Amino acid sequence: MSTESSGSIENVLHEGRKFPPSTDFASNANIASEAEYQQMWDRAKDDPAGFWGEMAENLDWFRPYDSVLDGQMPETKWFLGGKINASYNCLDRHLDSWRKNKAAIIWEGEPGDTRVLRYQDLHREVCKFANVLKKLGVETGDRVTLYMPMIPELAIAMLACARIGAPHSIIFGGFSADAVADRNNDAQAKLVVTADGGWRRGKEVPLKAAVDESLERSPSVEKVVVVRRTGQEVDMVPDRDYWWHEMMEGASAECEPEQLDAEHPLFILYTSGSTGKPKGVLHTTGGYLLGTTMTSKWVFDLKDDDTYWCTADIGWVTGHSYIVYGPLSNGATTIMYEGAPNWPDEGRFWQMVEKYQVNIFYTAPTAIRAFVKWGDNWPNQYDLSSLRLLGTVGEPINPEAWMWYHRVIGQEACPIVDTWWQTETGGIMLSPLPGVTATKPGSCTKPLPGVVPDIVTKEGASLGDNEGGLLVMRQPWPSMLRTLYGDHDRFLQVYFSEIEGCYFAGDGARRDEDGYYWIMGRVDDVLNVSGHRLSTMEVESALVSHELVAEAAVVGFPHDLKGEGICCFVTLTSADGPEELKDELKAHVRKQIGAIATPDMIRFTNALPKTRSGKIMRRLLRDIAAGREEVGDTTTLEDFTVLARLREHNE
Ligand code: WT7
Repeated sequence: MSTESSGSIENVLHEGRKFPPSTDFASNANIASEAEYQQMWDRAKDDPAGFWGEMAENLDWFRPYDSVLDGQMPETKWFLGGKINASYNCLDRHLDSWRKNKAAIIWEGEPGDTRVLRYQDLHREVCKFANVLKKLGVETGDRVTLYMPMIPELAIAMLACARIGAPHSIIFGGFSADAVADRNNDAQAKLVVTADGGWRRGKEVPLKAAVDESLERSPSVEKVVVVRRTGQEVDMVPDRDYWWHEMMEGASAECEPEQLDAEHPLFILYTSGSTGKPKGVLHTTGGYLLGTTMTSKWVFDLKDDDTYWCTADIGWVTGHSYIVYGPLSNGATTIMYEGAPNWPDEGRFWQMVEKYQVNIFYTAPTAIRAFVKWGDNWPNQYDLSSLRLLGTVGEPINPEAWMWYHRVIGQEACPIVDTWWQTETGGIMLSPLPGVTATKPGSCTKPLPGVVPDIVTKEGASLGDNEGGLLVMRQPWPSMLRTLYGDHDRFLQVYFSEIEGCYFAGDGARRDEDGYYWIMGRVDDVLNVSGHRLSTMEVESALVSHELVAEAAVVGFPHDLKGEGICCFVTLTSADGPEELKDELKAHVRKQIGAIATPDMIRFTNALPKTRSGKIMRRLLRDIAAGREEVGDTTTLEDFTVLARLREHNE
């Protein structure tokens, strides 16, 4: 059968290294043995209701649920009849214990200012802001847009929304006024919380001005609350705009949490598809909170004395799940940082790790590749010995970047959890358990308890070991999205129409002989060279394994003979490379993977076009490789100059 018709993807990456957890780590871990993991996983597969019912005892319920799981995927409901509140679980329940004086959030602004909110401080601020929202007319069920920098008020506003049952819709502070208007309209948001601006690489990023512009086109919004962060000049419209600090001054610190249905919407988060308008992924209260609570405990091995730092922006799901809801529900101390990793210099993250004695550090492969490029000298200046666990998320990590993270940041002593999940899954799905799983660089290893994945052909047939195909989920899990806001048909079509009876993630993957999963990237990105379907990620990894390559993006372009040729955009570790290096890299890939993957074209570039969350926009590179003048939708592009420079080189 040709690979084209079956939907299978050829596997060409061969990675043999394996890193078992130390006995020391394993003996103290929250899940401590292979046997324990296997027993949990089997139980969750065979009796999901029994398993998740037991796990749900980790949350506080106002009223117990009548049933754990109702219905079939995609129309599943969790914990019907149960009454719960996410802010209560993240705050109030810790106040009866010694944790009331524990740091909930340690915040650092980009200019170096800091704030520590103990659990009782955070509880007080959240209650006050919940009262402010009510005063401004927000009721249970109303949608609230949060368009803010990474400041404590963002977490406070989220939890205040959760407290009164007003779903929040967070828009990343780097998005434009147009993006804000579109999302306000789609969600029919009633109120917007923003700030005058935020700090990024020493510059003030204006936010209120963008909100003002967006409101000309989003009539559902009645009120705006503005945090004073940078102190820059803003226009305040009477009877529409209110200063956060003025409203908070008179607000009561008492606010009973709403007793909400488990399936009450907690938030909407817009995620861009490869085409079309953004999708409003909707998560509900009970299932989402349970998923993020348990996965934080299992994967990050959270302990009460840990200082935990996830470097994501709360504008992405990673920040929702693993800066705010998961860690706080567990009563952990979570760090929140406002600014850029290279401000005032490339040592900022490591300086913060040393300063706060960070134990658990979670970041993205794109950041790791930047660190590699900046050089070992930055981390080497700081004491990183407090670190005990490292994590990554967002895209496949190249084995060489993984090894660098292991060696230079982890000092060969920290397990690395490569966590695969999506905005839609709410929480981590595939990941090592740090005390159990022997890791292999580049693999997100195994499914967590309650996750039943498979690799299938387009027809839905299960594939065997090391056969690349489509990644699906065969069973529902509590934190899965419930719908796309306002467009249930699209929800059914995007995730459930491709493979009968399964959730289709949109990623290609393979499972090796040890049952480990290797993500091969989005199926939309797959190359088709002379009828062989190859993963762009694997060619990229081969390139990055060359010592002079910092980062690579591989795309197909129309080729007379092969159907698709392989074009590689390569960022080097030094400023520029000689032409001969291109031949050397072609030979290198050929040696690593085989003749079929030999690049046809190599182009050096000092930067790659990325989304604001750090994902390479291969779609745009395909346009450039094909010599097309007009490139597709660029609204999520982080840095436009990158595109302009790539185009210039075309001429
Ligand atoms: C897509 C989801 C989940 C939080 C951030 C991204 C890719 C994510 C991994 C990983 C390989 C990964 C997938 C996935 N992805 N984590 N560990 N290994 N690929 O959320 O924006 O919804 O993107 O990111 O392609 O489908 P998102």
